[in-house]
Amino acid sequence: MEEQKIIEQKEYIKKVKEINKNKQLKYYILTMGCKLNENDSEKMMGMLEEMNYIQTENMKEADLYIINTCCVRENAEEKVFGKLGELKAIKDKRDIIIAIGGCMMQEEHIQQKIKKSYPFVDIMFGTHTLYKLPEDIYITLEQNKKIKDILDIDGEVYEGIPIKRTSSNSASVTIMYGCNNFCTYCIVPYVRGRERSRTPQNILQEIEELAKKGYKEVTLLGQNVNSYNGGEGYKFANLLRDVEKIDGIETIKFVSPHPKDFTDDVIEAIKDSKKISKLLHVPLQSGSTNVLKVMNRKYTKEQYLSLVQKIKKEIPDIAFSTDIIVGFPGETEEDFEDTLDVAEKVNFEQIFMFIYSRRVGTPADKMENQIPEEIKHKRFNRLKELYENKIDENNKKYIGTVQKVLVEGTSRNNEDMLTGRTDTNKVIIFKGSNELIGEMINIKIISEHKWYLKGELLNES
Ligand code: 5AD
Ligand code: SF4
Repeated sequence: MEEQKIIEQKEYIKKVKEINKNKQLKYYILTMGCKLNENDSEKMMGMLEEMNYIQTENMKEADLYIINTCCVRENAEEKVFGKLGELKAIKDKRDIIIAIGGCMMQEEHIQQKIKKSYPFVDIMFGTHTLYKLPEDIYITLEQNKKIKDILDIDGEVYEGIPIKRTSSNSASVTIMYGCNNFCTYCIVPYVRGRERSRTPQNILQEIEELAKKGYKEVTLLGQNVNSYNGGEGYKFANLLRDVEKIDGIETIKFVSPHPKDFTDDVIEAIKDSKKISKLLHVPLQSGSTNVLKVMNRKYTKEQYLSLVQKIKKEIPDIAFSTDIIVGFPGETEEDFEDTLDVAEKVNFEQIFMFIYSRRVGTPADKMENQIPEEIKHKRFNRLKELYENKIDENNKKYIGTVQKVLVEGTSRNNEDMLTGRTDTNKVIIFKGSNELIGEMINIKIISEHKWYLKGELLNES
């Protein structure tokens, strides 16, 4: 049935392509949020380019605008409304199509707000109806109708949507959609629906094709990758082992696992692997057992620390990155110190720090003991300070080591230098010829500069 729906959309793609013939129309896409959203945008771009739209980075010259929204934290919302204001000014002068999709659009109060305050938006689509973008665009073009194409029920798993990859070395592959965990601060389960896994066959086939096209790195994506369920007992560890076997793929990454589901078979698969990145992203959220309980995370401070210990023991060269929320309702000074304590003990290579943001519809939003903004900010800065002090210390251990690096391109800050990342995601810059871009090479680290390491090329790779 899902296949039939994609075939229908391919018919709409042809119709829009016919309407757009010889018009050289341009699209501009703004993607907010996580890698899953980026991967969704790559699918939108794939569909748009088959409809003869050409991508532009210049907002002023586009004919079709798409905003792929995020609603995990409040600041993303403010950005969307600001952007819509800018688009209104363009639409007042020219006939353009404005489409807005993604997570924010699954929220009823946002749909109402857009209808009321931004009535010039042509298409509103949700996370479960992304595949219908060609039909939505067709109806807008043909009938000049405003469209709201949002489903509250879970979407299905659609295969065969065209995709335009934004990188030619490294690709993201979504392995599962949705989340069943309902952490009390998080909006994701409400906007992305329940967990649905793609079949192992479809995932492996996609990665094999990527390898044939020369991709060397894949990132497996899901809200909760280690609850991947491929059916008949086929779990995330099985998938990791099968991706490992694909020739041409040299690096495998995955985001994000949940600590409570980090089973021994996954640890074994990482230990046996020559390709899985040695930087594991394991979201902590809080180091306090009390806060973790109210967050509904289903592990304690001690369980998190012993998981890290167990992984370090099995795989000594492993490093960790994490997500931490400060200022969750009811977080006391003592609770926060537990978070600092875990950060100190684990010595995270990278911490993505977030100030707790109230999300309408989540249990934490209704909690009475919200933390004042001032305290939240102070705690955020204290965690940041601890983290930044650790960076220097952590960086020193790289000096003199040889790192295998996928050359990503020229450095943004210095065109004479090339850039890549260590297996633990540290940026390295080094001198080398542009022909190395896309290659795996060996680099010797010579110095550290807080946010990046400097290296030099070794002859043999
Ligand atoms: N406030 C702040 N941070 C949040 N995250 C999720 N929901 C919220 C929220 N309401 C963070 C979590 C998650 C990351 C993607 O975003 O740390 O792991
Ligand atoms: Fe949100 Fe928790 Fe699901 Fe992650 S595991 S998406 S934080 S509810």
